[in-house]
Amino acid sequence: MTDVVPVRIPTLADMKRKGMRISMLTAYDATMAALLDRAGIDVLLVGDSLGTVILGLETTLPVTLDAVVHHTKAVSRGTRRALVVADMPFLTYQVNADEAVRNAGRLLQEGGAAAVKLEGGAPVVPVVRRLVDVGIPVMGHLGLQPQSVHQLGGYRRRAYGPRESEQLLADAAALEAAGACAVVLEVVPPDLAAQVTAQLTVPTIGIGAGPHCDGQVLVSYDMLGLFDRFVPPFVRQYAQLAGTVTDAARQFADDVREGRFPAGAARRRAGRRPRR
Ligand code: KIV
Repeated sequence: MTDVVPVRIPTLADMKRKGMRISMLTAYDATMAALLDRAGIDVLLVGDSLGTVILGLETTLPVTLDAVVHHTKAVSRGTRRALVVADMPFLTYQVNADEAVRNAGRLLQEGGAAAVKLEGGAPVVPVVRRLVDVGIPVMGHLGLQPQSVHQLGGYRRRAYGPRESEQLLADAAALEAAGACAVVLEVVPPDLAAQVTAQLTVPTIGIGAGPHCDGQVLVSYDMLGLFDRFVPPFVRQYAQLAGTVTDAARQFADDVREGRFPAGAARRRAGRRPRR
């Protein structure tokens, strides 16, 4: 086995300083985590997108802390090099900083994550500071915040006027000042993402936010073409695995029905004595 140099929290800022772009994908289980890790993905995010992608829910709101802990354990077991980051689900960090510390602590202590990610700007800055103060690295998440889907009225791309742009720049600066190790920018106009990226010393990681961020993140099931219920317009599908899986399963079903699997099944069946 060759030695691997694990990606750690300071690696992210180092990569930004050196102009190296950061790749991040979501992962929810050990097998997929091992494949993505082997491919050299820098950060594996146990996103609360597991609600929609894995659990078949309509939104991420019902995802529980126990569910994220459970999936984070699996991803950590499958990972050797990548930095594992776990999402803090809805209502696990908004109530107060003490609860946030306890909940984030479980993601590190039980799940084996190296950092947590949480959504929001100014309102969550005191929580971010508190988590960082007790040694829990935090990744921020601005722009489209899926946990606020009802307040936003859907997952639509928002038109960013001057006031909203100013707010986003201020939120990003406040997150960095509070100690965030990186900031995800989801569905933000590319020019605004470029401004945030230039303003911060910690990396920005974009999703649907154009090419100027320090890194890019996608939901792995989207980029692999596995989740085909809805494909966001900014996704590039690097494979079409939904079709591959369906075709393979269909062939298996046909082979079992026709006695082609396992080998000799048809022969054995033909030689069977009739039931009385
Ligand atoms: O939950 C998730 O998968 C995410 C990414 C889309 C950034 O937050």
